[in-house]
Amino acid sequence: MPPDEQTMATITIDEKQYTVEEGRNLIDAAADLGIDIPHFCYHPGLAPDGNCRMCLTEMEIRPGQFGIVTSCTIRIKDGMNFRFNSPAVLDNRKGIMEFLLINHPLDCPWCDQAGECKLQDHSFDHGRGHSRFVETKRVPPKKDLGPHITLYTTRCILCQRCTRFCDEITGTSELGVVQMGSKSEIATFEDVPLDNKMSANVADICPVGALVTKDFLYKPRIWHYDKVDTLCPGCATGCNTTLEVMHQKIYRTKPRHNEEVNGYWMCDEGRFCYHGWQDADRLTAPLMRVDGELAQATWPDAMDAAVSGIRAVLDGEGDSAMGVVGSSMATNEENYLLRKLGAEAFGSPRTGLARKPDGEAWTSKSGFHIDADKSPNTRGARDMLGAGSLDDILRGIGDGSIRGLYILGGDIGRTLTPEETDAFRKLEFLVVHDVHRSDLAELADVVFPGAIPFEKNGTMTNAQGRVQRLGPAFPPPGGAREDGAILRYVGQRMGVDLGGTDPAGVLEEIAGNVDGYAGLTYDLIGDQGAMTGGEGPSEAAGG
Ligand code: SF4
Ligand code: SF4
Ligand code: FES
Repeated sequence: MPPDEQTMATITIDEKQYTVEEGRNLIDAAADLGIDIPHFCYHPGLAPDGNCRMCLTEMEIRPGQFGIVTSCTIRIKDGMNFRFNSPAVLDNRKGIMEFLLINHPLDCPWCDQAGECKLQDHSFDHGRGHSRFVETKRVPPKKDLGPHITLYTTRCILCQRCTRFCDEITGTSELGVVQMGSKSEIATFEDVPLDNKMSANVADICPVGALVTKDFLYKPRIWHYDKVDTLCPGCATGCNTTLEVMHQKIYRTKPRHNEEVNGYWMCDEGRFCYHGWQDADRLTAPLMRVDGELAQATWPDAMDAAVSGIRAVLDGEGDSAMGVVGSSMATNEENYLLRKLGAEAFGSPRTGLARKPDGEAWTSKSGFHIDADKSPNTRGARDMLGAGSLDDILRGIGDGSIRGLYILGGDIGRTLTPEETDAFRKLEFLVVHDVHRSDLAELADVVFPGAIPFEKNGTMTNAQGRVQRLGPAFPPPGGAREDGAILRYVGQRMGVDLGGTDPAGVLEEIAGNVDGYAGLTYDLIGDQGAMTGGEGPSEAAGG
């Protein structure tokens, strides 16, 4: 609900008045106003803890009388009066910075956090500029905390974001503080490793370079990457992510905040799944069957072979002899174009949908959900295709009414069942889009090299019914193409104009033709998605 007049409060910051949402955390309210209150232990996805003291500010506690308080534990009320930059506040900040740096190593040149380190930033903005500390610093050893995370103990400032994450979000409580005073350290208890389904989030929220993922150790500096907002393809939750990319290669995936979907988090499986896609032996040119063997072909030759093979099926058997099978790994726009190709070029064929078998669902203590459906767009593909199941297609092949198939493949994680293999072998002609030489591609007469999810532009609809945008990190390699472009090319060669020259144009058509998608545009979807059916935002699921 948008804040109305009654939920707003007037507050004073450094003698200037502002209107902000009543009840909002002071650090977040100030950030909304463009004012940065330096902080370490506060994270908007965790309960405030007030332990680092970096966010100290002055608040009027009686008329004319100010006292030092922690901003992270203040909720806005009407009439509050703050001093963010008084001499007392600035002096306190300097003192806290000096205290935090007592045992901190001068590691910045080789620390993996350099360039995105809060200690580095705040030291520059609020520190003394020189150290008065002459004693020997503590050098506790680094620790292997679990399969994904290493702790550089010397760099830890004991903000306890990581321990609170494991207590509040996953509920697994693997981490705690051991020892006392200046000997305090983060540790796992009784050597039980940090091995929950969301463990790598602790590296994202650690404000310094203490917790790092093993996956992103000793990689190029963070300022070298392009950042691309997209979605995780790992399951039907559709977590919002940002990819860090350089030279056509993904180096890191981080969760992107969407309160309605994933909050501030993502699961480890989704975070690291880019390796499987990226390491696949990609198809970079079409393949066509020559003398029984699949051989590399030019696009025009493969297209000729596909069109004449499809025509032979249609000429011999009549309309509906060609079936189409969409993909829950493909975008809404690609599945919509496939259905249109089938309807307009193949004469209303039967449609099916290929998807991975379900896996395990899991919900964290805080409500973050990993879906059992391990495909990111089952709901959207069904909406676009109005599809029957793949079983209907297999039955059609079995009874001889389907003689040819056009399949959107492109899922590196899916293998064919024996029933599928037997059925596809019976086809007179099989055209497949794929990204590697899968067992599906091996059965095809023509294989068009398509794109992986990280190369796609378009939308997907998650299990909630939220339509969200993917952003391409880079183009498909070599002669591979976006699947929508391939479908348009096939349509053109079959004498059908599929329209929608880009995914935004196709979405416009979807909005006019598909139930529940009326009125959707890329602008409306924005960076947080929009619900199908014109519903308002769903209940927060981000945990
Ligand atoms: S390891 Fe990082 S997140 Fe955990 S207490 Fe230390 S500084 Fe904070
Ligand atoms: S919950 Fe699903 S969508 Fe989210 S990060 Fe994990 S696999 Fe990806
Ligand atoms: S951010 Fe407020 S005390 Fe740490």
